[in-house]
Parts: sequence; structure tokens; C-alpha cells
Amino acid sequence: MVNNGIPLKNLVIFASGSGSNAEKIFEYFKDSTEVLITHIFSNNPEAGVISRAERLAIPCTIFTRAEYKDGTLLKKIQSLNTDWVILAGFLWLIPSDFIQAYPQRIINLHPALLPKFGGKGMYGHFVHEAVVEAGEKESGITIHFVNEHYDEGGIIFQSSFAVDPSDTPEDVAKKGQVLEHRDFPKVIASLVLPASS
Ligand code: GAR
Repeated sequence: MVNNGIPLKNLVIFASGSGSNAEKIFEYFKDSTEVLITHIFSNNPEAGVISRAERLAIPCTIFTRAEYKDGTLLKKIQSLNTDWVILAGFLWLIPSDFIQAYPQRIINLHPALLPKFGGKGMYGHFVHEAVVEAGEKESGITIHFVNEHYDEGGIIFQSSFAVDPSDTPEDVAKKGQVLEHRDFPKVIASLVLPASS
């Protein structure tokens, strides 16, 4: 799609949870003439992101595991002329047909400094609990390309914060969320609009 001669980048967001990052990304690009958040997809009918999408008037689709695996969802994404797929708190492993359709065009946000505290089952509060349990002095966030393995694609960006000895997992989560909201939209912009970075 083209907007006054400028190619428009279409992004879709996948989210399984509250969707606070999805909302920050939407806010960041809402007046952009170059980037459009066309759709939010969720695997979780209970996810907070669904009511956020409604409030923000972003089309939102809930999909089943069968649609995820049999190509139905990928076809829908392609029919939206999607350029980039943004995972903002999405918990299922990405199937290889998605990776092949969008090589280096699927990016994920992880709430720790990968390669530490990544892999299957390492998401959300499990990550923060593990960080505190391990007595880490710092934690942070990682934005990375997605491949067929959980949290193993190339790292694009990391930022970090100090973990104090008295910090609970909730404290660590709050510190991480500040960085996520600050950094994720900007990193997406630098990737999808490289000339603007
Ligand atoms: C974020 O903290 C994100 O880093 C994490 O889920 C949260 C979603 O929050 N992602 C993972 O743990 C992926 N392994 P949100 O729904 O408020 O955006």
C-alpha cells in the first residue's frame, strides 16, 4: 500500500495477555503516515488486550490452535498485506510456515536479558521469579527476531535495570515494564523505518 508516494508498513500485533505493550505501540504509531497497526490477534479469549483493542478501535481476532497450525491464520495475516508481525506478550511457539513467510520480520519482546531466563515456560512472572531466586543484580528486556525456537532468534536490542536485594518479582516486573513501554515502540520504528533511525 502507498500513502502519498510513501510505502505504508502494515504491522499486526500478537498478544496473549493484558496488552499494555500493544497499546503503547498503537499510541506510538497512531498518527504515523508510514506505519499502520492493522490488527491485533490473540489466542486467549480472556486476554485484557481484547477490551483494549475494542477501546482503541483496532480490529481484533481471537484464533484457535487449529487455525494457528493449519495455515488459516497465516492466510488471514497475508491477506492484510502484513509486512511485520510484532509479538507483544504472545506465548505460543511460532510455527515454521510463519517464519518462512516472514523471515526476520517477526519480532518478540522478552522480559529478561537473554540468553538468560529464556526458553519454554519462561514468560511473565516466571521470569521475574527466576531472576529474584537466582539473586541477579540486574535484569532487563530483550527485543529479538523470532525463529523456530523459544527466545533464540538474533538479539536486536537490550536495556537493563538494577535489581535490589529487597526487590520482589513484582518490583522486577514493574521496572521491566517501564523499559518495555519506553523502548519497544522505538525499536520497532527503527526496524520498520530504518531511514528514520
Ligand atoms: C511483557 O512483559 C512481555 O515482555 C512478556 O509478557 C508481558 C506482556 O505484557 N513476554 C513474555 O514473557 C514472552 N516470553 P502486556 O500484555 O502488558 O504487554
